[in-house]
Amino acid sequence: MFGTSVSIKSEKEIELMRESCRLLTIVHKEMEEAIRPGMSTLEIDILGESVIRKLGCIPNFKNYNGYPASICVSVNDEVVHGIPNKKRILQEGDIVSLDAGLIYKGYHSDAARTHAVGQISPEARQLIDVTRQSFFEGIKYAKAGNHLNDICSAIDNYVTSYGYGIVSALCGHGIGTHLHEDPEIPNYTMKKRGIKLRPGMTLAIEPMINMGTGEVDWLDDDWTVVTRDGKLSAHYENTVLITEGEPEILTLY
Ligand code: MF3
Ligand code: CO
Repeated sequence: MFGTSVSIKSEKEIELMRESCRLLTIVHKEMEEAIRPGMSTLEIDILGESVIRKLGCIPNFKNYNGYPASICVSVNDEVVHGIPNKKRILQEGDIVSLDAGLIYKGYHSDAARTHAVGQISPEARQLIDVTRQSFFEGIKYAKAGNHLNDICSAIDNYVTSYGYGIVSALCGHGIGTHLHEDPEIPNYTMKKRGIKLRPGMTLAIEPMINMGTGEVDWLDDDWTVVTRDGKLSAHYENTVLITEGEPEILTLY
């Protein structure tokens, strides 16, 4: 990859990206408010998809490479891409990662949050907070003229200082008229500086962080990614616009 395939959005496209992302924050807010012990992960998917459709948008995850739902719901040791299931019931003390995206007038948005179900342990709380903060450490470097690895290594350094494991099997990505565009955005230091960041790039930056090691496995459903050691995992993702100045976090709410 030489950086030439990373799309630069026009002012008109940026407006559409902003709106796609704004609408996605509504979906996330509604899901977050609904979370409670006793709820099934399928109920979260049904709610999320209904909000997306009520907003006149399309769930971009549904049928993506055969993914069978609209919202990825990943509980505890599930890292990402958990498949909603009516038999999977959230329990007090669980942590649940919700990854959602939509298409508005052809433009994709993508964001993820990990939430507490009722009261959780201080260790789980810290994992969620450090995962979130690692995103903000990364985007301190999301500025035109910097290189991609400036973001990646800032995430890596912050997470590693807590002794957590970075999931290196999965990455963030460019986003726009497709859910996954170039560049690939690892959450660890690369051996190269990566592409130069330019105004008009829209990037989904998404640290996936494990309490233990960063090693993961795939369940037999071919989707659900789980920690190999069975320890907790958290996820935090926003769609971000590179500008001439400070980055714009389009999916913040
Ligand atoms: N945010 C996830 C990603 O960037 C979305 C996965 S879509 C799925 O990989 F359909 F594959 F689940
Ligand atoms: Co993503």
